[in-house]
Amino acid sequence: MRSIKARFFFLAGALGLLVLHLSKDSDPPKSVQTNINVKEVNNKPQNNSYIFSWSKCQQNITASNISGFTTLSQNIQDILYYRHCRHFPMLLDLPEKCGGVSKSEEVFLLLVIKSSPHNYDRREVLRKTWAKERRHNGVWIRRIFLTGTSETGYKKKKLNKLLELEQQESSDILQWDFSDTFYNLTLKQILFLEWMERNCPNARFLFNGDDDVFANTNNMVVYLQSLKGNNGSKHLFTGHLITNVGPIRSAGSKYFIPVQVQESESYPPYCGGGGFLLSGFTAMVIYRMSKSIPILPIDDVYMGMCLAKAGLGPSFHMGVRTAGFQIAAVTPDEYDPCFYKELLLVHRFLPDQIYLMWNQIQDPNLDCSSSRTQRHSNKL
Ligand SMILES: *[C@@H]1O[C@H](CO)[C@@H](O)[C@H](O)[C@H]1NC(C)=O
Ligand SMILES: *[C@@H]1O[C@H](CO)[C@@H](O)[C@H](O)[C@H]1NC(C)=O
Ligand SMILES: *[C@@H]1O[C@H](CO)[C@@H](O)[C@H](O)[C@H]1NC(C)=O
Ligand SMILES: *[C@@H]1O[C@H](CO)[C@@H](O)[C@H](O)[C@H]1NC(C)=O
Ligand SMILES: *[C@@H]1O[C@H](CO)[C@@H](O)[C@H](O)[C@H]1NC(C)=O
Repeated sequence: MRSIKARFFFLAGALGLLVLHLSKDSDPPKSVQTNINVKEVNNKPQNNSYIFSWSKCQQNITASNISGFTTLSQNIQDILYYRHCRHFPMLLDLPEKCGGVSKSEEVFLLLVIKSSPHNYDRREVLRKTWAKERRHNGVWIRRIFLTGTSETGYKKKKLNKLLELEQQESSDILQWDFSDTFYNLTLKQILFLEWMERNCPNARFLFNGDDDVFANTNNMVVYLQSLKGNNGSKHLFTGHLITNVGPIRSAGSKYFIPVQVQESESYPPYCGGGGFLLSGFTAMVIYRMSKSIPILPIDDVYMGMCLAKAGLGPSFHMGVRTAGFQIAAVTPDEYDPCFYKELLLVHRFLPDQIYLMWNQIQDPNLDCSSSRTQRHSNKL
């Protein structure tokens, strides 16, 4: 029989990678407040309409002079042609999401979820489960989906209409008119931070992640409330830490970055993009740094670059233990609610699994008192 520990990690690893384990010995939550220095921000006019007036960003023709340009795929060529483009018109905005700049400090945890226009079912289930806007433990959780556009012509219009309807009902979408592709995720991130500086600069903490994760947002609140001496006004960036890696140079990979895009063979430490937690302070630092760092189209690495430039780093903060494990598949009936009850985040959940798990861990009758050994050995 496998050890308890192995079994525990097996479950975690089987589902993907990101596992932040909530420390049992964290302090009881205390009431916290934030006071981020946003002088610059506060002086800006409260008028978002200028964002609609950006002229269309032109292709950088000179990029085609880069050596080996013609050997690169259309995707990569596009990166080089459009890398300098950082402003796109907003199609859907939420200027009042945080109640305005001054009230934004009342948002304790802002859930910032990257979602492409097609992922209607994922957004719907998140609205009903871990991303529900609510007060938990005395503090506010708010939700935002970040999206671009997909398809062209009639299909694009149809998807935009869908998002518009969702917006009418749920008021939780920021949409910009750029093509929502994997290599444009960094752009999405930067556009969000720009929006945040304008509309929600004092949110204390953010969860930044994908729409296919299971995030135990109740635990996140408890964890963030337990941070000693950080009410969101100090550095925090924590998640699944990745170090000592560099660009993947094989053209077949989803993460392919040729030397024409980045010459350096190494990436700074960063947190896997499935989901990570950061303070409002750190989000604003990253935004300021991003202004002078050319876009690298791998969003989570880019965040690491911004942190490095600020002399900050991603970390496992005191009170969080993290571990990533990759093991072969496990059948869905082995999803153990008692296990997920203690986690902060697990990657790659389907909408029905999210719905089921979220409800199971809320169940007051869920009995997690029997030891792991007991329950797990029954299954082995
Ligand atoms: C947040 O923490 C900072 C530094 O620890 C402190 O100066 C500030 O007063 C706190 N903000 C509030 C609103 O409590
Ligand atoms: C916002 O600014 C634009 C352009 O300067 C102006 O046309 C518009 O009337 C302003 N809107 C509000 C609500 O102040
Ligand atoms: C590309 O480089 C060639 C030779 O240096 C130069 O003549 C040409 O103007 C460049 N093209 C662009 C679009 O910059
Ligand atoms: C256009 O691409 C060239 C070659 O990579 C680069 O040197 C230049 O800075 C780019 N221009 C802009 C506006 O980004
Ligand atoms: C990013 O979006 C822009 C605007 O829609 C588009 O022109 C560009 O091709 C996209 N870039 C990539 C790498 O998909």
